[in-house]
Amino acid sequence: MIRVQGLTKKYGARTVIQDLSFEVPSGQVVALVGPSGGGKSTLIRCLHGLEPFDGGQIEIDQATLSPGALGGNHHALHAIRRVAGFVFQQWHLFSHMSALANVMEAPVQVKQEPRAQAEAKARALLEKVGMGHRVDAMPRRLSGGEQQRVAIARALAMEPTVLFLDEPTSALDPQRVGDLVDLLRQLAKEGLTLLTVTHDLRFAAQLCGRALIFAEGQIVEDGPPAQVLKDPQDPRARAFLDLEEG
Ligand SMILES: Nc1ncnc2c1ncn2[C@@H]1O[C@H](COP(=O)(O)OP(=O)(O)OP(=O)(O)O)[C@@H](O)[C@H]1O
Ligand SMILES: [Mg+2]
Repeated sequence: MIRVQGLTKKYGARTVIQDLSFEVPSGQVVALVGPSGGGKSTLIRCLHGLEPFDGGQIEIDQATLSPGALGGNHHALHAIRRVAGFVFQQWHLFSHMSALANVMEAPVQVKQEPRAQAEAKARALLEKVGMGHRVDAMPRRLSGGEQQRVAIARALAMEPTVLFLDEPTSALDPQRVGDLVDLLRQLAKEGLTLLTVTHDLRFAAQLCGRALIFAEGQIVEDGPPAQVLKDPQDPRARAFLDLEEG
């Protein structure tokens, strides 16, 4: 469950997120779309406790984040890292570690899982994302799409209830996008809550039961993709989707 109340985020004098409130119930699969530079990445980074914010409150399951320095949210950050995973646009795998070691790292270091148990789980996860044949490969020897699969396995290793993804299709060809949709659908079926930032409206429509259009610091449309992405009412949403006549 994600609950955002009155979230405000500024960079210097510029307000990127303005008094934003929304909820995502457990198990929902949501796309976050909107103009480039509008603040989508900033928003999910705030939700994952990677970025401090200026006003409002964020709840992820039992953890509550408050405005101000991230250091002041020590306990909440710890709790959020345990329930929420994050897949970065550039994956950010540990470059000096194999795929397997990448996936084992957080369970061993953060959860103090015994290595043998973490390894068995990591192998199973890499298998699940279709990377079972490359467990010993170093990240530089993997394609973009393969690195992304490892990054997803790494996020899943902490057994999150919520997964944030930033532009997960940006490095993938259409067939790989289809594979990703299948994988994420499977995870959603298992109960994972998904919030994905994407420019790919087709991907959003295929995967998600709900789409949010984020523009000028606000969610200006919220509903089923078929409606939000094809026939939104808000002029900012229509402009973003280039639906205006003339
Ligand atoms: N650390 C930072 N300091 C100052 N401004 C920043 C910082 N990070 C992002 N911004 C600005 O905040 C705005 C929102 O950026 P953000 O990356 O969240 O947009 P986005 O919607 O994810 O865009 P895109 O679709 O291009 O990825 C942009 O104008 C960006 O330049
Ligand atoms: Mg972004």
